Amino acid sequence: MKFEFKKTTKHVPTISFVEGDVSKVVEDTKGSVVLKIGVGKSEALTLRQWRNLVRKAVRVAHAHKFTEILVDANELTMGVVKESDENLGREFAENVLMADYEFRKYKSKKKSDFLGIGTVYIENASSGFKNGVKRGEIVGFWVNQARDLANTPGKDMTPTVLAKAAKDAGKGTTIKTTILEKKDVEKLGMGMVLGVDQGSVEPLKFIVMEYWGAGKTSKEKPIVLVGKGVTFDTGGINLKPREAILGMNQDMSGGAAVIAAVSAVAKLKLKKNVIALVPAVENAISGSSLRPGDVLKAMNGKTVEVLDTDAEGRLILGDALCYAEKYKPKLIVDVATLTGSAMVALGTRTSAIMTRNEELEYKVRKLGEVSGEYVWPLPLWKEYENNIKGKVADIANLGTPRQGDAINAGTFLAQFVTTDRWVHIDMAPRMETIDDDNLAKGAAGAPVRLLVRLIEEY
Ligand code: BES
Ligand code: ZN
Ligand code: ZN
Repeated sequence: MKFEFKKTTKHVPTISFVEGDVSKVVEDTKGSVVLKIGVGKSEALTLRQWRNLVRKAVRVAHAHKFTEILVDANELTMGVVKESDENLGREFAENVLMADYEFRKYKSKKKSDFLGIGTVYIENASSGFKNGVKRGEIVGFWVNQARDLANTPGKDMTPTVLAKAAKDAGKGTTIKTTILEKKDVEKLGMGMVLGVDQGSVEPLKFIVMEYWGAGKTSKEKPIVLVGKGVTFDTGGINLKPREAILGMNQDMSGGAAVIAAVSAVAKLKLKKNVIALVPAVENAISGSSLRPGDVLKAMNGKTVEVLDTDAEGRLILGDALCYAEKYKPKLIVDVATLTGSAMVALGTRTSAIMTRNEELEYKVRKLGEVSGEYVWPLPLWKEYENNIKGKVADIANLGTPRQGDAINAGTFLAQFVTTDRWVHIDMAPRMETIDDDNLAKGAAGAPVRLLVRLIEEY
């Protein structure tokens, strides 16, 4: 899809936001089609609602199989007065791209297939709005790339394929991608990554993407993003039951998000240093799988009792967080489809964040609002550490009591970080879109937009 700011002489269907609750298609006096989208009371319109209306407009255009649409930037941004033109332009482009996305790779192709909107003509755009659109195009593209990776079935999205996707993502940028193999991971002493990997026939990959936009020798310490890369989560010997296992090809969504975020940042040519780390493994069930009760040794020397082989995400992330600290980063952000419990606690409209740094918690929550990738905090109090004491080892990967597992998991991760400049994002609630999102079913591409904003602002 492309955005055009030039005037067109063609009769392109126009999208128009109008007061009231009624949406309808009309023909204007010149014979052009106008899609009127009712926005309610325009002066009461919030940015949250506006984003969704932009998406809705795209979905309605899809229903009419429009391959081109025209909007008037002035009229479109009605009522959302508090936002800068640049921000509105960016939001517009991001959300149009996200709403236009469908995962078509596995559908057989027919000539008559509608393949989405080809061109969006934008009239009366200010220079600020245009600049915003240019940034939003990059971010929206990478959100959709993350969705492509996450939507791909487990057979075709193995650790090896994910590693190749990371290499490809960095092409045409100054990102340096290194893939650590099993022997490297052994040398580093990442016993938890090795433990989760041991039941799979697919070789593990530990993906390292480095973007030194501020200069490697500059005083600027990097921001390290860590993404969970479980390419399929069967649960292991603690096998997941019937329905719970479906969709677990998307258990690498956190990994996909950090790969996409660092790629977007490089394409935006931000003068920031950013590292993306993805421990990529398959949590398979086989004769060589990890057993409940086994003890693993983490990279930082701590011993870990595996009480549940389905709590594998916190294991691989623990080692990856130890590795992240080698960079002496100014900020560590980990992103993971970590617990069903985060969904039980918060529902499916927001990811959970956990950090012991109040300022950071506030900042990330605010940027959630700015980016449209909403997050909400859960506590990470020291007291919870009593929940994860080990019987035979130092710590256990399952809490007692089991309730509040999202927090138990966050507390487990905290055992592998020594800085308080760390925030954990449990994105399980936002792994897949919901009907209200006005997006295609499947991967939501969370929280790529939030990560980019955080890197821009931190
Ligand atoms: N990948 C799952 C969490 C998950 C569930 C993500 C549903 C997205 C949707 C994770 O590895 C897991 O299995 N967690 C267990 C932990 C339990 C064994 C303590 C869970 O949440 O049930
Ligand atoms: Zn699991
Ligand atoms: Zn998992």
